[in-house]
Amino acid sequence: MPRPSSRISGIVPSGKDGWEVHFAAWTRKEAGEDIIMLSVGDHDFDTPSETIEACVTAVRGSNHHYTPLPGLPRLRQAMAAASSACTGVETTPDQVIATPGGQAALYAAVQAVLDQGDHAIVVAPYYATYPNTFSAAGASFTVVETPAEDGFQPRADMIRSALKPNTRAILINTPNNPTGAVYSRERLEQLAEICREHDLWLLSDEVYWTLGGGEHVSPRSLPGMAERTLVINSMSKSHGMTGWRMGWLTGPQDMITLLINLNLVTTYGLPAFISIACAEALENRYGVKDIAERYAARRTVFLDAVHGMNDVTVRGSEGGMYVMLDVSAVEPDDEKFAWALLDKEQVGVMPGSSFGEAAAGHIRISLCQPEPVLREAAARLRRFASTYRREAA
Ligand SMILES: Cc1ncc(COP(=O)(O)O)c(C=O)c1O
Repeated sequence: MPRPSSRISGIVPSGKDGWEVHFAAWTRKEAGEDIIMLSVGDHDFDTPSETIEACVTAVRGSNHHYTPLPGLPRLRQAMAAASSACTGVETTPDQVIATPGGQAALYAAVQAVLDQGDHAIVVAPYYATYPNTFSAAGASFTVVETPAEDGFQPRADMIRSALKPNTRAILINTPNNPTGAVYSRERLEQLAEICREHDLWLLSDEVYWTLGGGEHVSPRSLPGMAERTLVINSMSKSHGMTGWRMGWLTGPQDMITLLINLNLVTTYGLPAFISIACAEALENRYGVKDIAERYAARRTVFLDAVHGMNDVTVRGSEGGMYVMLDVSAVEPDDEKFAWALLDKEQVGVMPGSSFGEAAAGHIRISLCQPEPVLREAAARLRRFASTYRREAA
């Protein structure tokens, strides 16, 4: 075939080592072994039935045609209302644009603010697609870690020292995947100050905003930030709709108007019946409370079961769908730990180092399993940690 573009060839999947453990666990489970999978971040339950019914009604109701590029008016209205609740800033429909999932909102945000050769700062540990989303825009980026000892909270001094003359944006994610950290108001205020001082965009990934436990603080609500913040949102986590592929981006109206042109050449609008189902799910908050309570209960169950385990320290783990455990006192090499845990106790987890340096020596536990399974996983982990130390001694 003729030569592919360097743009497409440059998008190289990352996090290979972590996924190797996941795929090995998956293969063994498929072969019939009693493997507990705590490596994936997809719900173990279906989309709420009210949302499914809304979609069935919509698809039977002849909603089979093109939709407006930025989203159906009813959907934009519902998304704007959700953004008002999420960000604490009154949001109008022309300040949001519908996208096929949070990932596409992230892609749109990066395309919107970075030119080829521009630089961004990515706060780590981060969601696996972040680096390649910048590469796809021809932009460079610097990864700034959040220290584990600091509960994976962002540090303004570290971000400041990574700034370059061509830095245009900072990307953060709270509640965080993979650490479960929920960034404090104080740290977000410090980040906002940097953005204002250096005239930067803040790309704020808030797809886990309903799973944070307490009050969600969006940096968009901080002084002078609404005009320079693009918020990534999604139906995937909050509404139990990962496979429906619906998300949205919120930002200044002028930027959103420009982004309609991106939809012109990419999505050309979203499926009508899915848009209607999503609008109804947003309007009625189908599943939101139930899903949030379910993950909160699972987190409590798992952390209680881990509590008191010698040499295993919980870090972050305040929100989202994950728990982060520092296992370095048992085995400093997190990848070795994950492989041994799979071999000895049939539990599949993600090695922390696949999410960046700050998470080295950690493992990420997904809470996408029912409570009894999480209890059993914690028991296996406890047995593993104590025998691993004995055997090593
Ligand atoms: C932090 C974060 N952002 C964005 C996404 C993308 O979600 P989606 O494209 O399903 O909306 C995910 C998915 O796991 C995520 O964890």
